[in-house]
Amino acid sequence: MGDWCVVPGPASRDLAVKISERLDADLFDIGYKLFPDGESKVTLLSEVRNQPVILVQSAYPPVDRHLFQALLLSHKLSEEGAEVHAVIPYLPYARQDREFLNGEIVSMRVIARLFRSVGMRRFTTVDIHSVEGLSNLSIPSYSASAVPLLAEYIQNNFKLADPIAASPDFGGSARVEAFSRILGIDHLSLEKSRDKVTGEVQVKPLDSSVSGRDAIIVDDIISTGGSIQKACIQLKKSGAKRVISACTHPVLVGDALEKMRKAGVDEVIGTNTIPQSVSKVDISSAIAEHFKTLG
Ligand code: R5P
Repeated sequence: MGDWCVVPGPASRDLAVKISERLDADLFDIGYKLFPDGESKVTLLSEVRNQPVILVQSAYPPVDRHLFQALLLSHKLSEEGAEVHAVIPYLPYARQDREFLNGEIVSMRVIARLFRSVGMRRFTTVDIHSVEGLSNLSIPSYSASAVPLLAEYIQNNFKLADPIAASPDFGGSARVEAFSRILGIDHLSLEKSRDKVTGEVQVKPLDSSVSGRDAIIVDDIISTGGSIQKACIQLKKSGAKRVISACTHPVLVGDALEKMRKAGVDEVIGTNTIPQSVSKVDISSAIAEHFKTLG
């Protein structure tokens, strides 16, 4: 393939620039305007030549606006004859990948239809909530992992005392195992339950001691901060000295950061799939490397 062009969506210009530099690819010009009623107007200012384009637009909050901007751009690019490779590093609606309660809508299926309808030919994201969710998309899709980059950042920036990595739930066991393997440290998974109606999270006490140890909680998303808050409380009760929270997608809704800090979290580290004050880890290499494998 090769000879890529990168199209920066309004939500992800910095990340798109980094990816284009790593791929030595041209960067498209985009115009963007937000109307007073909340509608987006996105304009393609560069000419589409017969090239594959990488459209980079993370759909963090406001999720519907950012998602729709990606759809608008993809539609225009494919109308102009481009082969659209969509990179949506934070993909919303991915947690509802099945009908947990009667009447719920499997939003991943709706996403799949939308992506196809606007001409997306290939899809790339980062640490999708569950890889099974990708099977809903009938285009080639890939979820890059931020885990090696998070592990490298922790290793280079913290002096840790007898560290142990922790997942706030069993669903994240493979992730925390991969993280701990890179650092050559122990790991554990806490037992979390979430009320399917209220969303309220409970985390069970640990059955082992982490006395005097630094704990790194590894998760894919920090949204309200409730999961990390409850996990941190249990780790501290079991003797953890310092608690560091590392995640791929720092959504950080409302007072999430304050909530976690009050619970005793010493440091929160995220990636730039979402631009936040805690986004210390640059994910562009993992995305660019994937495109290099495509030729
Ligand atoms: C859920 O299983 C995810 O892996 C995250 O733990 C969850 O989305 C975090 O949400 P919150 O920060 O609202 O607890």
